[in-house]
Amino acid sequence: MLNGKTALVTGGSSGIGLAAARLLRDKGARVAIMGSSQEKLDRAVADLGNDVVALRGDVTSLDDLAKVRDALETAFGGLDILFANAGVAFGTPIATTDEAGYHRMMDVNVKGVFFTVQAVLPLMREGGSIVLNTSWLNQVGTPGRALLSASKAAVRSFARTLAAELIDRKIRVNAVSPGSIETPIHRSNGQSEEEFRAYAEKVGAQVPMGRMGRPEEIAAAVLFLASDASSYMLGAEIVVDGGRAEL
Ligand SMILES: NC(=O)c1ccc[n+]([C@@H]2O[C@H](COP(=O)([O-])OP(=O)(O)OC[C@H]3O[C@@H](n4cnc5c(N)ncnc54)[C@H](OP(=O)(O)O)[C@@H]3O)[C@@H](O)[C@H]2O)c1
Repeated sequence: MLNGKTALVTGGSSGIGLAAARLLRDKGARVAIMGSSQEKLDRAVADLGNDVVALRGDVTSLDDLAKVRDALETAFGGLDILFANAGVAFGTPIATTDEAGYHRMMDVNVKGVFFTVQAVLPLMREGGSIVLNTSWLNQVGTPGRALLSASKAAVRSFARTLAAELIDRKIRVNAVSPGSIETPIHRSNGQSEEEFRAYAEKVGAQVPMGRMGRPEEIAAAVLFLASDASSYMLGAEIVVDGGRAEL
């Protein structure tokens, strides 16, 4: 399905990005993953296989993004698919959140996505597809999540604007909007597996489908948006949330 294509997955060393990298590779693409921790990248390559290219870099650093672009050019020549997925999530209650927390959220989730697209754009070929990762939180209000929700609403907006801006280059931009997905982003330090299962059950009970989602369920939508199967989709968002934001 993706034979002859190349892909970059930011945040491809864990969770949703790791599942997407695996699926894109299994469908024939040559895949590179980017993350800020070398240790996590090494673990991901051990899991995925040595055919995956690991590129260390922080999406908040324009220098790192330029280096990643250069490394991609050396490895692949050009790029057909970008899954701009790297992101962070934490609570930011209005009464207690400080400026550093504000900058951290917006730097990774908003600035990081914008400049990732800018950095790799010179490598992107006609017919390319950019998939942005938003969140079910971009369309609902939940307490303590003002900055996470606003950051993802900004990314939802990028999908529309960048789609309009890149249409002349025949590069499509769309988004995937995950619900609550079982990934390390939901795990806290020192939490036992038993404690995490209890947490996952509690969160799952808030979802109409009665459970948290699996990273592979988001990867399936990413594959669709990345491939020509979605050739008539532009500036749109696929919601994959077990009904969390829709019902
Ligand atoms: N899981 C959910 O319930 C859920 C719901 C809606 C949306 N999402 C979105 O899905 C995306 C992936 O999240 P996940 O759940 O798969 O979490 P995850 O398992 O924690 O993965 C996050 C990935 O992003 C990378 N990353 C974080 N900050 C980075 C930075 N500054 N530079 C480069 N890479 C960075 C991480 O690697 P390093 O730590 O090594 O940098 C990791 O590979 C995020 O954008 C998140 O907001 C998740």
